[in-house]
Amino acid sequence: MSDKYPESSGRRRFVKGVVGSAGVAGIGTAGVASLDAVTNQTGTGGGQTTYFGVQNTGGPAPRAMPMVPLEIDDEGYLRGVYPEVQEVEQQGETVQVAREDLGGITYEVDWFQYCGIQDYEGLQPSYEGDNYFRYSGGSSSYDWQPGSGQVHVDDFSDYDTWANDYGEAGIGKPASVTWRSQDTDNSIPVQVIRSTLLEDAIEDASGEVGEWLDAATENGFMAFLNKCTHYCCVPGYRSSNYEGAGDKIYCACHQSIYDPYSIVKRSFTAYPRPEDG
Ligand code: FES
Repeated sequence: MSDKYPESSGRRRFVKGVVGSAGVAGIGTAGVASLDAVTNQTGTGGGQTTYFGVQNTGGPAPRAMPMVPLEIDDEGYLRGVYPEVQEVEQQGETVQVAREDLGGITYEVDWFQYCGIQDYEGLQPSYEGDNYFRYSGGSSSYDWQPGSGQVHVDDFSDYDTWANDYGEAGIGKPASVTWRSQDTDNSIPVQVIRSTLLEDAIEDASGEVGEWLDAATENGFMAFLNKCTHYCCVPGYRSSNYEGAGDKIYCACHQSIYDPYSIVKRSFTAYPRPEDG
């Protein structure tokens, strides 16, 4: 199969055998420059990180859940895009940063820096695996989906008629998947949606959001990190009829609602380097 990112194997050249936690609380990785750089490439102790995500529209969730840009390979399988790993010189040290320009937007791994996810093995540049989405079983999965295996476009061919007990029929078909989670202790939960409303939203979007959606979605598919920004529960699209949430993403823990068709630009303060914190 062809690869839009043919240098991906080359990226591993930069990996220096560092595995484990970036440790916001300074857990176990003191002095590992490459991972410090993942949590903060500025080296100045935290900073503003700007990202694009699905807007929180109800309940206590404080901010949008970050999107995971995706692409579809020549065989029709979906994968998430991990920011390109680069080595940069910083304060006399060579450090790794996971960051790239996507549609004019700076996409970086710091976007996923909350709820401890930033320490998951799969989010480290050193993770040895592919970026393909895989169906997840368990309570957050949907009746229609397989419990494992790679996610294929054909699985969503009925997305414009699909329905479950929640929301309107024919506006979107979801799946619960994992990303960069094979052979790791912690799975990274992602939700994939193929939606006619997303296609409309992309047509209507302009400016930076339009650029981002162009770069981060394909064939009506979108993906986002499925961790509530409130207290880290795993929400679900079309998982409840609570107060109009049927067509939206609902977090059952404290009734937060997110709108997957309202993509917003937000920022937050990234954690400082462990040795600064
Ligand atoms: S609303 Fe509290 S964890 Fe989601």
